[in-house]
Amino acid sequence: MFSNESAEENLLQSLNLQSRVVAVARPPRGEDAGVNPGIELNSTFLAPGATGYGRFGNKTWSALESAIESLEGGGTLVFSSGIAAISALFSILPRGAVITASRNGYSGTMVLLKQAEASGAAEVRYVDVADTDQVLAALSGSTMLWLESPTNPALEVADMPTIIPAAKLLNVGVAVDNTFATPLVQQPLEMGADVVVHSLSKYISGHSDVILGSISTKDSALYQRLQEVRKFNGAIPGPFETWLALRGLRTLGVRMERAQKNALEIATRLTLHPAVDRVRYPGLPTDPHHERAKSFMKGYGAIISFDHKGGAEAADKACASSQLVAYATSLGGVESLWERRHRWSSESPSIPTNLIRLSVGIEDVEDLWRDIDAALLASLGG
Ligand SMILES: Cc1ncc(COP(=O)(O)O)c(C=O)c1O
Repeated sequence: MFSNESAEENLLQSLNLQSRVVAVARPPRGEDAGVNPGIELNSTFLAPGATGYGRFGNKTWSALESAIESLEGGGTLVFSSGIAAISALFSILPRGAVITASRNGYSGTMVLLKQAEASGAAEVRYVDVADTDQVLAALSGSTMLWLESPTNPALEVADMPTIIPAAKLLNVGVAVDNTFATPLVQQPLEMGADVVVHSLSKYISGHSDVILGSISTKDSALYQRLQEVRKFNGAIPGPFETWLALRGLRTLGVRMERAQKNALEIATRLTLHPAVDRVRYPGLPTDPHHERAKSFMKGYGAIISFDHKGGAEAADKACASSQLVAYATSLGGVESLWERRHRWSSESPSIPTNLIRLSVGIEDVEDLWRDIDAALLASLGG
């Protein structure tokens, strides 16, 4: 979009993140120039040149990477999935590393942690990330603190402004999975974290049509190591998927605004519903994590978890009964999705078996509520 790189950088820095998602990573302006980057479909490049081969670099990856870099504040690498990005990071830990990690978190990450423990590659100290004293007590002697906040699907919020500097004082590396919050809600690198990971398959892409991941860091040596891992483990993204993710990112601001507004309204109504026992949503003033979230986050995300009063079977029945909300896993798309998390055997035992995770989309809130209310009432069997 801009005629020279430093002018572009200056303009981007002056923009609110809501505008930055729209303006970032545009091709240079010029007569008849396209407003979007192209899709680079080449497996090889003429010599001599910096890229050389399609597994080493790609202009469409670079466009998405520069966009995420502008939002998270660190050099970014895109991977073929969120779990590939997390695996790349775990793969560079020294053998015998001590990882302090949330006891609740994305179930795929929990599987990786268990595998690392079982193979002897790492020792894992599981903590309740919301219990700051417990996290701080586990840090001494740790190699890396792995934080997910809010956690998937328990929606616990870690006191990141306290925990991250404390970890850094002890020389503990800090990595944060920022998928649930997005950089519009919190920027962990600005709080001192070393690494931010995303499943771009969720809010950043926003349309449930790609699987992608990313890692961002301000540490250039770490960036280079991770780039080597991507090159030689081969977990590279497809050019079309990266292009779609950048296209989706353009509307992140308006999508998040609408989804969060819907989520607060739906969470409030769920607290009064006869089929619902406990609602977890940091945006609710009654939520145990609300005050902490309010103190440093710029929003509360758009995921709600709640326990079904009728147990696991009734929870499944509710999910299968909705007509507008899709009965499906995943989150962060424009469409609302829900599921009982324990339908997956990999879900953590600390998550209640009757917990439903609802990813609130951008539909009309009254349409959503009619559907959710009817499905929950139907599941009570009355
Ligand atoms: C918080 C979080 N991190 C990472 C992942 C893994 O991402 P992907 O499915 O893109 O591999 C997920 C997937 O659900 C997730 O919810």
